[in-house]
Amino acid sequence: MSALAPFSPRILPLLKAPGKSDDTHLVVEDGALRCAETGERFEYLRGIPSLYHPSPEEGADVTARIRSFYEETPFPSYEGLEEFGELVAKGQSNPFSRNLLEAVGYNKTVLECGCGTGQLSHFLQLNNNHTLGIDLSLASLGLAVEHKTRNQLTRASFCQMNIFELAIKDNSFDVVISHGVLHHTFDARRAFGNIVKKAKPGGIVMVGLYNKPSRFPTWLRSKLIRVLGPKIDYVVRNRIRDARKADVWIKDQYFNPHETWHSIDEVLGWFDENDIEFLNCSPAILDTDGESAPGLFDKTSPGNAYQRAVTQLSWLATIAREGALFDVIGRRRA
Ligand SMILES: C[S@@+](CC[C@H](N)C(=O)[O-])C[C@H]1O[C@@H](n2cnc3c(N)ncnc32)[C@H](O)[C@@H]1O
Repeated sequence: MSALAPFSPRILPLLKAPGKSDDTHLVVEDGALRCAETGERFEYLRGIPSLYHPSPEEGADVTARIRSFYEETPFPSYEGLEEFGELVAKGQSNPFSRNLLEAVGYNKTVLECGCGTGQLSHFLQLNNNHTLGIDLSLASLGLAVEHKTRNQLTRASFCQMNIFELAIKDNSFDVVISHGVLHHTFDARRAFGNIVKKAKPGGIVMVGLYNKPSRFPTWLRSKLIRVLGPKIDYVVRNRIRDARKADVWIKDQYFNPHETWHSIDEVLGWFDENDIEFLNCSPAILDTDGESAPGLFDKTSPGNAYQRAVTQLSWLATIAREGALFDVIGRRRA
């Protein structure tokens, strides 16, 4: 298995030295990255490029706990998806990832913040897209790079970074995604403000978060699962065949050291603060044109506060059994 370049030629120029200005550039050296301007070297850790920079003091504790959790429990598991063909088949059979790939389109640059083991980044580098997946966890990134190398996926790049100190130039990516991540940070709103700056003006931003109120049944199950066992979880009962994969899912859902819950209205507030135009929500907001929009990035109406409240209550009967993750999509105003 021949080692691949850690960064695709379209991604490397978008990086900068951690904590430094956007005028800095990085070059790949043997086993390290070097800042062309200052000469500072950033050694690879366990074979993974690392531009990690610690969180500000007030967030250091949560970041450390989350980092050590995902070092022990890389998510999601690759069980049954070792070959790229299997990963593509899974992505194409899932309506959400299929629609996402279609909406992203062709020849785009995609930043995935909190990529975990990199499955979505690998799927989205189809169609000649170039992806950069960043994460805290070296164990997760190690699995991402292993999959990349085994399947010779040259357009997927991975690097250890912290969302609170991204070593990425502002205004640089066509699409910025963070799915199932910001609710595990010490300040999801602040994290959102950091990642949106990395989208180009006119670029797409997609954020997936645990929903308030529909995460509540998961919280309730977390109080019962030690007594009743993993079968109280719908996904374990109906979707997962492999025991190790089930174990990783249960730990991520019920034994996570830190999570917060968010509403659609809260995310709309973040959009206003960061000059992001609302495009769509998944699942759709009831009684709006989002329900019939063919494309995930289509411009639709956010509805009114009543429609959004009813939608989120209705999720108690739908997405609540699968973890209550919802995604909001917007466009950075040019
Ligand atoms: C539940 S996993 C989601 C993985 C992937 N996005 C998915 O949907 O399958 C959350 C990931 O966010 C990462 N993460 C949490 N806080 C982070 C931070 N401050 N900077 C970078 N990554 C972070 C964790 O290490 C973990 O891999």
